[in-house]
Amino acid sequence: MNNANKQPPDSEAADTAAGLSHRFCVAPMMDWTDRHDRVFLRQLSEHALLYTEMVTSAALKHGDAQYLLQHSEGEHPIALQLGGSKPVELAEAAVLAERSGYDEINLNVGCPSDRVQSGAFGACLMAEPELVGNCVKQHDDEC
Ligand SMILES: Cc1cc2nc3c(=O)[nH]c(=O)nc-3n(C[C@H](O)[C@H](O)[C@H](O)COP(=O)(O)O)c2cc1C
Repeated sequence: MNNANKQPPDSEAADTAAGLSHRFCVAPMMDWTDRHDRVFLRQLSEHALLYTEMVTSAALKHGDAQYLLQHSEGEHPIALQLGGSKPVELAEAAVLAERSGYDEINLNVGCPSDRVQSGAFGACLMAEPELVGNCVKQHDDEC
């Protein structure tokens, strides 16, 4: 079969535009994918996209953002996963993360744990597509 005219799927086109590949990633895992684990994982794969543990937008707003966003050059490509459902707070958190050098900002809309659901974010956001849209739009408006 001739694949010469085959267009890449949209996700691949977006990856190319962003200079990032999602072909092989290590998922965000609370209590696992901290910076020490990511340095270890980087020894196993040079190109895998590494996700952080979820960091809430509230923690970045009210806590030690510099500490929470800490990572080393050797961890790239690296994506920060944010948790939250307040559009302005998430947008501010994403700006902080971009400034500290993350290659991608990911919004947690998939984690089903009780801890996450009680905070009104994670998988329960799948039931609120309009709110998720507002969270993403708020970030686009700020940048
Ligand atoms: C210990 C543990 C912690 C996790 N924490 C998160 C998290 O913080 N955010 C998230 O989106 N998913 C979290 N997940 C889900 C994983 O990111 C991943 O989606 C899940 O393990 C399924 O991956 P698989 O389809 O490759 O098996 C966690 C999973 C595990 C096992």
